Amino acid sequence: MYYSDELIEEIRSRNDIVDVVSSYVRLTKKGSTYFGLCPFHNEKSPSFSVTPSKQMYYCFGCGQGGNAFTFIMKHENMTFTEAVKHLAERAGVNLPEQEYSPEEKRRADIRTQLLEIHKEAALYFHRLLKSEKGTRAYEYLKERGLSDDTIKHFGLGYSSNYGDDLYKYIKSKGYSDEVMKESGLFSYSEKGVYDKFNNRVMFPIMDINNKVIGFGGRVMGDAKPKYLNSPETMLFDKSKNLYGMNIARSSRNGYILICEGYMDVIALHQAGFTNAVASLGTAHTSRQAALIKRYANEVYLTFDSDGAGVMAALRAIPMLKASGLSVKVIDMKPYKDPDEFIKALGAEEYQKRIDNARNSFMYEIDKLKEETDLNDPDLKARFYNNVAKKLLEFSDELERNVYIDAVSEEYMIPKDSLIKTVNRLALTYEPEKNKFQNEYSEQERKQSGAKTPKDDGVRAAQKTLITWLIDEPALYNKIKGIISHKDFIEPPFNMVAQLLFQQFEQGNVNPASIINRFESEEEQSEVASLFNKGLLEGMSLQEKEKALNDTVVMVKKNSIDYRNKTVTDIAELQNIMKEQNELNRIRIVL
Ligand code: UTP
Ligand code: MN
Repeated sequence: MYYSDELIEEIRSRNDIVDVVSSYVRLTKKGSTYFGLCPFHNEKSPSFSVTPSKQMYYCFGCGQGGNAFTFIMKHENMTFTEAVKHLAERAGVNLPEQEYSPEEKRRADIRTQLLEIHKEAALYFHRLLKSEKGTRAYEYLKERGLSDDTIKHFGLGYSSNYGDDLYKYIKSKGYSDEVMKESGLFSYSEKGVYDKFNNRVMFPIMDINNKVIGFGGRVMGDAKPKYLNSPETMLFDKSKNLYGMNIARSSRNGYILICEGYMDVIALHQAGFTNAVASLGTAHTSRQAALIKRYANEVYLTFDSDGAGVMAALRAIPMLKASGLSVKVIDMKPYKDPDEFIKALGAEEYQKRIDNARNSFMYEIDKLKEETDLNDPDLKARFYNNVAKKLLEFSDELERNVYIDAVSEEYMIPKDSLIKTVNRLALTYEPEKNKFQNEYSEQERKQSGAKTPKDDGVRAAQKTLITWLIDEPALYNKIKGIISHKDFIEPPFNMVAQLLFQQFEQGNVNPASIINRFESEEEQSEVASLFNKGLLEGMSLQEKEKALNDTVVMVKKNSIDYRNKTVTDIAELQNIMKEQNELNRIRIVL
């Protein structure tokens, strides 16, 4: 953090959230809350709320929320520090020269310099493309049908084949080897330093704030590898970014097209489909899905028509659905990918393919059928069984019935027996979700070091308890002897609980100030969502009491388990055992 917490809080409190938002959104007052059309997703009736008493906004439609800083960061595409400066200026607060701790200064410095280096490199590659040296690369892009506007819009470029051109250029701008090494744009060896990208057409990769964070480079012939990509760096996290998202985020037509390659994205945008994105040469991750979910509720997969593309789609579908996106699949046959399709048949035909996209469930069944020889009675019976099993994925009966109808009609499976099979299986069978999902999420979990499902329950309990405390501050006195902020173990709840419990003690609850402590939009939004759920509405006193006791016990038990695993001190161990014994006696009366 570059400014003191007190200063940041002062700036926030001098910028009334209603004033700030009103300069962008027309708000109407209803009771103690203001409502308007959400600026962050497409909607016709207002679900965007601003609550003066909390100094926060929250959209019930898209789940975005936060305080004045969050709003400015999102709306103006600013970093936290930029938003602080902006609102300081707006309220006439003088900012001191920035103060860094030495380590913060070093990291912030490196990050800033890496961003500058990437920007310089992108400009360099682009200029080279337009120069005589870049003639062949320029012609290559022209042959692939790209217009000058498109080349400029995506900042395409060319890396020369001289070995260390870029290195010399960046060096001449005064950057140190220490930082340049971190950029991933150069390879350092005993023999010297060379540019990583040689004689390739360059695709700058930008984050959603239009900052260049890496590159992809394509050979112009058939050499291998076809594409070379920047390695992961302090700036570039492949699992968190999508190529083209910086543009697609503002297309605002409610859905995102996901394709496989850089050229697919570019061809689609050039044809008017500015909502196309691609993952960066890796499998799709749930963090990418979460990023998409901020801007759209629906995705259309437009992966390559080959076997690998089908595999990728079958893996992506359950993961995207788990993130709350509805998914459709576009058929591009007989063409390989969107780029080739558009080139051959044009935008209008592609739009037709979008309109006729297959519902992802039916697509999964299609693929199941394709791998089965229905002439073999055994295999046919197994196929019917598998279809019935998949139908169990729908826990909602109405929804399941709709799909039973559709499936029995399309695959000519007698409806009565399909229903019977589904019902029979429902008694004995745990819906297996999807084999691809299991493989995938397991792997993803390991990669991200993230939680098992049990932990998710504990997270939810910590989250719920915080939300309740804010909704009904009177609960604080009932639980304070039982639970302390230290029982909240998971970030960001640990930090939120610490600040919130402090505020309760001081009798001065101020949720918006808590959000200040988090610098990324994502964290701010997650924290803000804690403060905006009327979870207790519509519950009877008895139900409330039971839910509260269950939640408190779960949070407490998790905290005890956690300390039990990490304890080294005998006295602390005795404490833990005492608390463990008291766990069964927790009884909060409302
Ligand atoms: P494809 O092999 O399908 O290429 O790779 P493409 O998009 O059709 O490329 P063009 O049309 O021949 O230029 C799809 C994506 O996979 C990644 C890249 O992101 C590429 O856009 N990829 C592919 C690599 O990272 N490295 C490779 O060697 C190949
Ligand atoms: Mn292609």
